[in-house]
Amino acid sequence: MEKLISRRYKERPMPEGYIFPPDVRPGKLTVVPLCNNTIPVIDLGLDGEGAAQACDIVDQILEASQEFGFFQVIKHGISENLLKETVGLLKELFQELPDEDIASLYSDDPNKSCRLFTSTSGENFDAEPVHFWRDSLKHPCHPLSEECYQLWPKKPTRYRDVVGECSTQVRELAWKILELMSQGLGLGPGLGPGYFRGEVSQEMLLSANYYPPCPEPSLTLGLPKHGDPNLLTILLQGDDHVSGLQVLKDGEWISVVPFPHALVVNVGYQLQVISNGKLKSSEHRVVTNSSAARISAGFFVMPSHDCLIEPAATLINASNPQLYKGFPYKDFFLNFGKTLGKTEQVLDRFKLQG
Ligand code: OGA
Ligand code: NI
Repeated sequence: MEKLISRRYKERPMPEGYIFPPDVRPGKLTVVPLCNNTIPVIDLGLDGEGAAQACDIVDQILEASQEFGFFQVIKHGISENLLKETVGLLKELFQELPDEDIASLYSDDPNKSCRLFTSTSGENFDAEPVHFWRDSLKHPCHPLSEECYQLWPKKPTRYRDVVGECSTQVRELAWKILELMSQGLGLGPGLGPGYFRGEVSQEMLLSANYYPPCPEPSLTLGLPKHGDPNLLTILLQGDDHVSGLQVLKDGEWISVVPFPHALVVNVGYQLQVISNGKLKSSEHRVVTNSSAARISAGFFVMPSHDCLIEPAATLINASNPQLYKGFPYKDFFLNFGKTLGKTEQVLDRFKLQG
């Protein structure tokens, strides 16, 4: 528990082991363009005002998922209050819980389903070539059985109620977005259970991140360059004034500047495979800053371990040959852990030779 960066960030000089090799350091962050409008912000029209037209939304989502693999959604139907309360409770958890409560959540054992840890996983902290400037709380958040709730933090006292409600609503939103994507890809008319319902989106994991202020943001990273291993991620950024998430686009890192009441959506590797490469799982990273702590909550929609992942048959034809072979999700997942930092290798073993 003493390894948590939230307990060490005030140490001077900066604690050892957090300086990244020069070629992957963020460097002078002022040169990274703060492009407010670069990642598309899409109005889903789900707040009762009936704004945008459905077919227009499908086009926007598909375009953003092809070009950036990332977009933000507004008027997504989840109340601002619920999102604020969720962030408030996470802030309380990371910043204010008494030592004994932190100790009861902390674990270096990656097999524990609800745990607080630091950097990659806490497990091999001393053997890590470099540590990430973040602490993380992870636990399953769907299906929400009583058993699942019992694993969750008991404190703050409203955590289970509020985060439970937020997870339920995020899950509904994820299904709506997946439904729009399946329409856009031509995988179904939007009736019935939809292409992405079922085993392929059966589970959801909450990964809440805490990035304390850092004395040397140009030398370290909160999270290194990576793509998400799951199907689809919905990310809540904790504070409208603190950015940190960056997406690699055409060789340049661009900031995903928080947009008021928005949620960030990104395509995971499984969606890239199922769409036969049409949708893009973009590489992204998290940079730190010296003045403010940052919180984010990622909701990872993912397949069951035994779910067979393969390109959708209707997307394969003479001009679009099949790019990936089919595999059970667990094969991907087990391999993913070994490719940390080597994003170009993640999908290699599943590619079909052209
Ligand atoms: C992740 C991630 C981004 C963030 O957890 O996979 O990319 O802003 N998080 O914390
Ligand atoms: Ni990610």
